[in-house]
Amino acid sequence: MITKITAAITAVGKYVPDYILTNKELETYVETNDEWITSRTGIKERRILKGEGLGTSYMAIKAAEDLLQKSNAKAEDIDLVIVATATPDLPVAATASYVATNIGAINAFSYDLQAACSSFLYGMSTAASYVESGRYKKVLLIGADKMSSIIDYTDRATCIIFGDGAGAALFEPNEEGLGLQDEYLRSDGVGRDFLRIEAGGSIMPPTEDTVKNNKHFVYQEGKTVFKYAVSNMASVSEKMLTRNNLTEKDIQWLVAHQANKRIIEATANRVGVSSEKVMMNIHRYGNTTSATLPLLLADYENQLKKGDNLIFAAFGGGFTWGAIYLKWAYNS
Ligand code: UT7
Repeated sequence: MITKITAAITAVGKYVPDYILTNKELETYVETNDEWITSRTGIKERRILKGEGLGTSYMAIKAAEDLLQKSNAKAEDIDLVIVATATPDLPVAATASYVATNIGAINAFSYDLQAACSSFLYGMSTAASYVESGRYKKVLLIGADKMSSIIDYTDRATCIIFGDGAGAALFEPNEEGLGLQDEYLRSDGVGRDFLRIEAGGSIMPPTEDTVKNNKHFVYQEGKTVFKYAVSNMASVSEKMLTRNNLTEKDIQWLVAHQANKRIIEATANRVGVSSEKVMMNIHRYGNTTSATLPLLLADYENQLKKGDNLIFAAFGGGFTWGAIYLKWAYNS
């Protein structure tokens, strides 16, 4: 009998920088206040990576090392390292290659994957596909972003939201049917008018003017993105349940991208899961873009049980969005 290989997460790890940027401190940069930020986003504080010359790879390496230290996996057995990120160390030269070499994954190949806030979710699909096909056995997926490197701390519409961090997950074959079960991934290019960095790419290379006019920072039309995020994240999550014949009672955890507490709650309401089943750490880290989903897994790892049904959902720039249904594969 041929057993279908599924791709399961077998270990997770995380890293967040020490520096805590509070709502109170933001009040000294821009016209805002703790009450507004808390009620509109759910965010109380976020982590910021300080230190000359430290980029996204610094956090990605630490998250991967945390994972390796907690698991039986050996770095030299890893076949592939994917770094999901919107803030690579350098525009050219994959951050993942630097990370792989630095963690001792000397037999791996490596590349970056960019789909804004959906990078890790899309990366789960990529990592799982390699494993399910039988082509590779150990795929390390890291979601890491140094959002503070692309945020304008004089723009109150964006600076209150984002933070820095990294999380990692190892994908391996599973013969008990655990791991990724189903996915529904979407995109729509209409989104780039509403959430983007205008300059620094091939359309508008950097010039003195682009720097002077703050065009290398994230621009977001929050209200529009909010509307798209609420309706799309909720509908793909609902689709995961209906097409897998699941009801809210079958779901142990909703693992939703941490962009805004109100978006997460709207998604939870639509699929009918109660608040104790909703993973939440936005109050501590803000929106860490590619790192939100693996940071949730690392923070909730102790509460996860083998066989638990998890629904992942994300929405981000592009627009990109989607949902994944995954069965958790181990007790920690
Ligand atoms: O992760 C990738 C995808 N991104 C998202 O999913 C983010 C989606 N968007 C959002 O989360 C929300 O739109 C924001 C948190 C960015 C903004 O919240 P909002 O409830 O949509 O606020 P708003 O932009 O409609 O602004 C409401 C009011 C405005 O004042 P008026 O025009 O009503 O007088 C803003 O000028 O709040 C004002 N405002 C602020 N006030 C204090 C905007 N930013 C701030 C601020 N502090 N930081």
